[in-house]
Amino acid sequence: MERPYIICHMLTSLDGKIIGDYLKTERTANFTDVYEKIHGRYESNAWMCGRITMEEHFTLGHKLVFEQKNIRPIPRTDYVANVNAESYAIAVDPSGKLGWTENSIEAWNAHRADDHIVEVLTERVSDAYLAHLRKIGISYIFGGKETLNFSLVVEKLKDLFSIDKLMIEGGGYLNGSFLNEGLIDELSLILVPIADGASKSVSLFETSSYLNKTNPVNF
Ligand SMILES: NC(=O)c1ccc[n+]([C@@H]2O[C@H](COP(=O)([O-])OP(=O)(O)OC[C@H]3O[C@@H](n4cnc5c(N)ncnc54)[C@H](OP(=O)(O)O)[C@@H]3O)[C@@H](O)[C@H]2O)c1
Repeated sequence: MERPYIICHMLTSLDGKIIGDYLKTERTANFTDVYEKIHGRYESNAWMCGRITMEEHFTLGHKLVFEQKNIRPIPRTDYVANVNAESYAIAVDPSGKLGWTENSIEAWNAHRADDHIVEVLTERVSDAYLAHLRKIGISYIFGGKETLNFSLVVEKLKDLFSIDKLMIEGGGYLNGSFLNEGLIDELSLILVPIADGASKSVSLFETSSYLNKTNPVNF
């Protein structure tokens, strides 16, 4: 199966941090504008972020509460809510935690207002969450039973949504997942000339209990 061309597009401090106090400085604000401009220049119709990034910037920690009991089981098959969408915001949310209340991010980001949301899930997600996504018109795909296989995910993005060019835009755990599977074709790095200096902080590529350290990767 075919997959999209994949660009990891990120902004870091000189010490490779993707979060930290340096992001709040006036100097960084100029680079953040450049980040958005370069995003546009790639002319990609799809970008992807991890659950923590989506929660911080878009759903703002909103939690969904499902009161209805005995929801009928929903098959763990991919669901395309909008066959006419032209651009996509793709959220990696393995157990369905993101509190979406509508099917676009317009309210939070005017630049990417038309992007149709696609959730990347594992089969662990609840039926109530799937029913909610269907109700508000969010598409979803399954990337594995318990854990995510991103090679499968990107093949599905090409097959179901015709995505040819995909921007991977953090955070460090999502980037690390793609690095792990050898799925990054190009790195677009905006290096802000500031050293953040924090030692415990998220960096460009991370490892974790679900991510092994890769062999060094050339770019
Ligand atoms: N400087 C930049 O350019 C830039 C860009 C983007 C984001 N950021 C910043 O980065 C920070 C968040 O980064 P982060 O690295 O902590 O989080 P993240 O990558 O945004 O999200 C991590 C979460 O995504 C899910 N996930 C990612 N890879 C997975 C895998 N292989 N298997 C299963 N689940 C996976 C998990 O969700 P669950 O926990 O639900 O299982 C995981 O906890 C935010 O503060 C954001 O503002 C900076």
